[in-house]
Amino acid sequence: MKIVEVNDYQELSKVAAKVVIDLIKAKPNCTLGLATGSSPIGLYQNLIAAYNKKEISFKDIKTYNLDEYCNLDINHSQSYYTFMHENLFNHVDIKEENIHIPVGNGSDLNKLCDEYNELLHKASIDLQVLGIGGNGHIGFNEPGTSFDQETFIVKLTEKTREDNKRFFNSIDEVPTSAITMGIKNIMQAKTILLVASGKSKAEAVKALIKGGVTETFPASVLKNHKDVIVIVDKEAASLL
Ligand code: GLP
Repeated sequence: MKIVEVNDYQELSKVAAKVVIDLIKAKPNCTLGLATGSSPIGLYQNLIAAYNKKEISFKDIKTYNLDEYCNLDINHSQSYYTFMHENLFNHVDIKEENIHIPVGNGSDLNKLCDEYNELLHKASIDLQVLGIGGNGHIGFNEPGTSFDQETFIVKLTEKTREDNKRFFNSIDEVPTSAITMGIKNIMQAKTILLVASGKSKAEAVKALIKGGVTETFPASVLKNHKDVIVIVDKEAASLL
């Protein structure tokens, strides 16, 4: 695991974007695994800026997102479908058919999992972007998830719902379950880029870097991957 410490969120976003931009320049038809949450927003803004400067194009890029809430209309302001379109896809030349986001809304959720998992089996993700939850979750793989888990429906922990309630009007509106790539799917990416910013991530970053590999702290699995870059700002690194 390569740890890169930077000053603040702005620098983190720039350094993380450079990793993605360099990959796109070297392989214009690469496949990206993308994440939602506040952590990668700055990274996406830098990608949009690079696109606007004609440094990169998304016309041959395929993307696969980590997760989506269940039982939330994709057009809801807080769906990850909406998030990805507002924060990246609407601003670049990606083709809609090359965008893959799990569908969490339907009568047969297990079938939706199988379908997304099939897509992931056929895909080969060059670079997976990750944030980290306060409890160490990646995607929506909550503590206790098996490292062998593939795409599944997860009941969200109260900690995760609390953490995410800032995006909704009240805790009651925060979905109770989600569809997520499993840890096994995430680990199949050739390179993994995790970004963590701010004091609220300091405990998680400490557990990730100093702790052992354990299913009670999902992100620790990344220590078993051979190509992981972790970019942290000073606040997130404050307990190291
Ligand atoms: C959500 C997402 C994760 C994300 C995490 C942290 O639960 N499913 O993919 O990493 O939140 O979010 P944030 O970056 O907003 O702290």
